[in-house]
Amino acid sequence: MPTAMITGGSAGLGEAYANHLADRGFDLILVARDQERLAVVAEGIGRRTGVIVEIIGADLTDARQRAVVERRVADPERPVNLLVNNAGVECHDRFDRAPLSDLTYEVDLNIVAVMCLTRAALPAMMSRGNGDVVNVASFSGYLPASGSAYSATKAWVMAFTDTVSASLSGTSVRVVAVCAGRILARQDTTTDDAENRRRSPLWLDPSAVVKRSMADLQKGRVLSTPGWIYRMVVTYLEAPRRSLRLFAKAAGKGRERLSSDPEA
Ligand SMILES: NC(=O)c1ccc[n+]([C@@H]2O[C@H](COP(=O)([O-])OP(=O)(O)OC[C@H]3O[C@@H](n4cnc5c(N)ncnc54)[C@H](OP(=O)(O)O)[C@@H]3O)[C@@H](O)[C@H]2O)c1
Repeated sequence: MPTAMITGGSAGLGEAYANHLADRGFDLILVARDQERLAVVAEGIGRRTGVIVEIIGADLTDARQRAVVERRVADPERPVNLLVNNAGVECHDRFDRAPLSDLTYEVDLNIVAVMCLTRAALPAMMSRGNGDVVNVASFSGYLPASGSAYSATKAWVMAFTDTVSASLSGTSVRVVAVCAGRILARQDTTTDDAENRRRSPLWLDPSAVVKRSMADLQKGRVLSTPGWIYRMVVTYLEAPRRSLRLFAKAAGKGRERLSSDPEA
């Protein structure tokens, strides 16, 4: 059975990834801070689908706790075939008023943890010749909106995914960034606002986000944008970047030629 590690797998979008992947026969490793909540989710998924669900209680902003997760994802004896870097946080204060500790926490979870886990996962995936990484970004990454550092962290996730993807060219390891719009939370299915939200194309069902991103990963796309309204905007915004990707690919090949040429 393939194994998927999902950070933030105990709630929201991460839980939707966990359910989707378990339904497709993946054994799971779920990572989050609250071990009790993790155990409840793991038990439910295990009972429903029969897959093995391992849990790791860790705060991914803490280097020592994160190291446990890095070792697990890197372990060649117990391969992880798919890493979903989903855990993320948004500090809702305006930047100039936000406590610095909240801002650094946001950067540590949304950026540092994504980079460290991806770095830990790739060598084993590359030597095995298979593996996939899903990095959950956000449509906010495109928005020049006021707020904390959240949008900037998500813009970083998209740029980072591009960089990693270019580095993986010629291997069978794939990586995709998920440019997610507003996602319905579980409580949105019961409140009075729920009906309006469900009808709005701006609000996305978590399972639709998961399905779209997994389909885009299979197609080898670097960026997945669930929801037609977001896709329309992103297609427009990404047009120059798509050309740059092609250019970078060609330039990258040139660099490889140069580095293997002793005369260069
Ligand atoms: N919700 C949206 O509308 C939306 C839109 C676009 C993008 N996104 C992105 O989608 C991802 C998931 O968002 P969500 O709304 O589904 O989140 P959520 O419901 O708040 O769940 C967050 C998950 O991450 C875990 N987590 C939080 N801090 C952590 C830490 N320091 N270390 C380890 N695990 C931690 C949480 O468990 P514990 O609390 O137990 O640690 C939980 O399992 C995020 O990257 C978010 O930026 C969300």
